[in-house]
Amino acid sequence: MNKLEMKVDLNGLTLNNPITVASGTYGFGREYSEIIDLNQIGAISVKGLTLEPREGNEGRRMVETPMGMINSVGLQNPGIRYFIENEIAFLRQFDTKIIANINGNTIDEYCEMAKILSDEDVDSIELNISCPNVKNGGLAFGTDPKIVREVVSKVRKACKKHLIVKLSPNVTDIKTIARITEEEGADCISLINTMAGMAIDIHNRKPFLKRISGGLSGPAIKPIALKMVYDVHSVVSIPVLGMGGISNTTDAIEFILAGASAVAIGTANFSNPYAPLEIKKGIEDYMRHYGHVDFNTLIGDLRL
Ligand SMILES: Cc1cc2nc3c(=O)[nH]c(=O)nc-3n(C[C@H](O)[C@H](O)[C@H](O)COP(=O)(O)O)c2cc1C
Repeated sequence: MNKLEMKVDLNGLTLNNPITVASGTYGFGREYSEIIDLNQIGAISVKGLTLEPREGNEGRRMVETPMGMINSVGLQNPGIRYFIENEIAFLRQFDTKIIANINGNTIDEYCEMAKILSDEDVDSIELNISCPNVKNGGLAFGTDPKIVREVVSKVRKACKKHLIVKLSPNVTDIKTIARITEEEGADCISLINTMAGMAIDIHNRKPFLKRISGGLSGPAIKPIALKMVYDVHSVVSIPVLGMGGISNTTDAIEFILAGASAVAIGTANFSNPYAPLEIKKGIEDYMRHYGHVDFNTLIGDLRL
């Protein structure tokens, strides 16, 4: 059997294979490391980090929906310093890339985190711009093109590492946001984050989530995510890391044909922790079946 080339270069971040796991669905990899071999995963995007530790939102913060889930976890995490002191060394035992997902209340906070992580042993920084901007009435950074330009340009200057910018799907024109992100120096774009959603308990007539609404993820958002990946890939020349409802090999290959250079598995990990490995093997089988020796020849190979 021919040996397949599975390595992929995300514009300065080389992954052993195109399978990654999405921030917030994998903690810092510890629990999953007891179940699967983390050496088999191209990269791990760690739980969203903030400058200070956060308890997350109070009350009920997750609800299952027919095709996924809605969460309002509220960025519960032990803070960037704890991550640096306790989690990087653990993850470094494995032959996988470490992506540090950062979240700020203000642009200054994002910049400070990017600066701190620039001197640490992580491979990439993923800027999550779906966070509420406290200086702008709580509207997410990623929904206003002017603010996207400002935050990406300032973080780019503060960041000495490979920089991924993770886009919010809760916008009307994802192409404009993606173009701005590229212009301001991102090395790679990841998308999509969760979509705004809500569920109501009709018996007590209250929203299921204490915060009323949250972020919808899982199979329900897959067709939307796929179109956004396709749209973004058509207007930027930097690589795209695609995610949103990927649960099986077919889903992943759809994203790759639409233009994703790599994919992230998120919500699917909760119901099937073996999903990343199954999808990796599934892509290899697909490549053999269709005569692809190098994974890179599959990226964006959509026949229109
Ligand atoms: C419980 C939960 C927590 C999440 N936390 C983060 C986070 O901290 N930072 C981030 O950028 N995205 C976060 N996300 C979004 C995922 O990384 C991913 O973009 C989204 O869920 C879509 O992929 P999926 O449908 O495969 O889960 C979270 C998603 C879930 C379900």
